[in-house]
Amino acid sequence: MKLLVATTNEGKLKEIERILSPLGYQVVKPPKKLKVEETGNTFLENAYIKARAYYEEFRLPTLADDSGLVVQALGGYPGIYSSRFHSIEFGGIEPVEESPDKANIRKLLKLLEGKQDRSAKFVAYTVLYLGSSGFFSWGECRGEITHEPAGEGGFGYDPIFKPEGFDRTMAQLSPQEKDAISHRGKALRELARLLENCNLR
Ligand code: IMP
Repeated sequence: MKLLVATTNEGKLKEIERILSPLGYQVVKPPKKLKVEETGNTFLENAYIKARAYYEEFRLPTLADDSGLVVQALGGYPGIYSSRFHSIEFGGIEPVEESPDKANIRKLLKLLEGKQDRSAKFVAYTVLYLGSSGFFSWGECRGEITHEPAGEGGFGYDPIFKPEGFDRTMAQLSPQEKDAISHRGKALRELARLLENCNLR
């Protein structure tokens, strides 16, 4: 089955392809980026909004992933604002101009200074939109926020997230190690299981 992925985030695209290709899905990148307003209040709503927007433009079975980092001591922030955390006003820290991933990390570490509780989780919701029906799944990966970034792999907040059971950050894991425990790996394998049960592959 050919799946159009409703994202142009290279980090996500790479992981989705890496996880779904061996399961028999052909992952297709969008021919162009659409400007989609993520107006939902939840990951699931935003995944649905993105999947539907790309489906309506390109008319292919469309997969969207909406994901983010949920930090306990920040009341769940950055959550659905994870990708643009640096550009929203939160905790009295002004938006800054910098590469978004680096700026997000810097802001998060600043907000956690002096906090005992550094527990967090990555969450991913996926929606497969087929026009008049669809599927969804989710996955999470628990861990904690480190005091400084380490590692070059992955993307986003990976350099400051240490998954439970590991003494390395997500950015220090191999791609295979990350996929085996990640929120995205869990959500996508669950989606594939659902599709297989419906003889869709
Ligand atoms: P979205 O494109 O609106 O779903 O935003 C996802 C954002 O959450 C990304 O830009 C990252 O900041 C963060 N994020 C999601 N998944 C991961 C991951 O696997 N590693 C690191 N950061 C992630």
